[in-house]
Amino acid sequence: METIGEPRPMRYEDLRAVLAIEQRAVHYPWSGRIFRDCISAGYGCFVQERHRQILGYAVVSSAAGEAALLNLCVDPAWRRRGIASHLIGVAVERAEVTRAASLFLEVRASNTPAIALYRRHGFNEVGRRPGYYPAAGGREDALIMARAV
Ligand SMILES: CC(C)(COP(=O)(O)OP(=O)(O)OC[C@H]1O[C@@H](n2cnc3c(N)ncnc32)[C@H](O)[C@@H]1OP(=O)(O)O)[C@@H](O)C(=O)NCCC(=O)NCCS
Repeated sequence: METIGEPRPMRYEDLRAVLAIEQRAVHYPWSGRIFRDCISAGYGCFVQERHRQILGYAVVSSAAGEAALLNLCVDPAWRRRGIASHLIGVAVERAEVTRAASLFLEVRASNTPAIALYRRHGFNEVGRRPGYYPAAGGREDALIMARAV
């Protein structure tokens, strides 16, 4: 398989491409403003690109010894090639350098691909927020998952 380089920090100029993926890939996409706020707040915002085409991205915050993976998404055309796994590796490194002990995330209870991915990377379910997410025709639970850094 072709090797793809290391993820790099997300820049404001990337947001058009990032939003195009976000809007295609997620039912309740983040706005450009949320991504901009994450970059300006100094969160760990990373993109994976190939030949200058953005294929996926991740956003991780870190404070008070805990890190949180706030967004992780891969272009639908580029899935099952290890890109999310690579981005999780970068998120874990970021958590390490900010001296976080744990990396948390929230995921829709119905998102079986993401849950499989996270389990494979050592995340365990540590809680559940009932009705946390909006969903077609109602609300949906969030699973809270975590792993040691
Ligand atoms: C979840 C998501 C990020 C996975 O991205 P990806 O780059 O395809 O993931 P990887 O290639 O790194 O997958 C690694 C492993 O995770 C598991 N996995 C990933 N996608 C899966 C799927 N659709 N079904 C079952 N297992 C899956 C597999 O174990 C896979 O290993 P394998 O391909 O050797 O079987 C991607 O599907 C996505 O962007 N979904 C929409 C956004 C989203 O749900 N983000 C998470 C929000 S919390």
